[in-house]
Amino acid sequence: MDAVKLSRYLVLVVGSVISAAGHASNNVTPIDGQANEAIFQGWQVFSEACGSCHGDFGQGKIAPDLTQQIKTLSEEDFTRIVTNGKGLMPPWKANQEVMHNMGNMYRYLKARSSGVVQEGILMKPR
Ligand code: HEC
Repeated sequence: MDAVKLSRYLVLVVGSVISAAGHASNNVTPIDGQANEAIFQGWQVFSEACGSCHGDFGQGKIAPDLTQQIKTLSEEDFTRIVTNGKGLMPPWKANQEVMHNMGNMYRYLKARSSGVVQEGILMKPR
């Protein structure tokens, strides 16, 4: 395991321990019911598929900060761009997981943009 993978792993383990202990973590903002599940799903797929370029929390990396861009993007425009690609971004239409979670990813980024969800690892809702 290389250092980057190891540190990611440690972050996840520490996060799980904090969650298991039942303490409120700064990384998690509770949201009620269904939204919570949708946003969690959206974040999982987003961080897997998009994090390498846009940052695991949409904060921007080698590609734009989507927590800002999303403010002026409708869900239709978001879906169109992600499906077909834009500039240096590849199209995602062949990726079932991304296509099935389009709305969830949009909701996650909207929640990040409005500050309802902070930058950080989300826990699976109970
Ligand atoms: C290989 C790197 C890369 C990956 C992976 C990637 N993107 Fe992008 N994305 C970019 C780049 C670069 C741009 C800027 C394109 C431009 O404006 O020419 C961009 C632009 C966007 C935009 C448009 C922002 C705007 O307002 O113009 C959205 C929305 C977006 N990406 C969403 C996603 C989502 C969702 C995923 C994961 C399914 C993803 N991207 C994965 C590189 C990437």
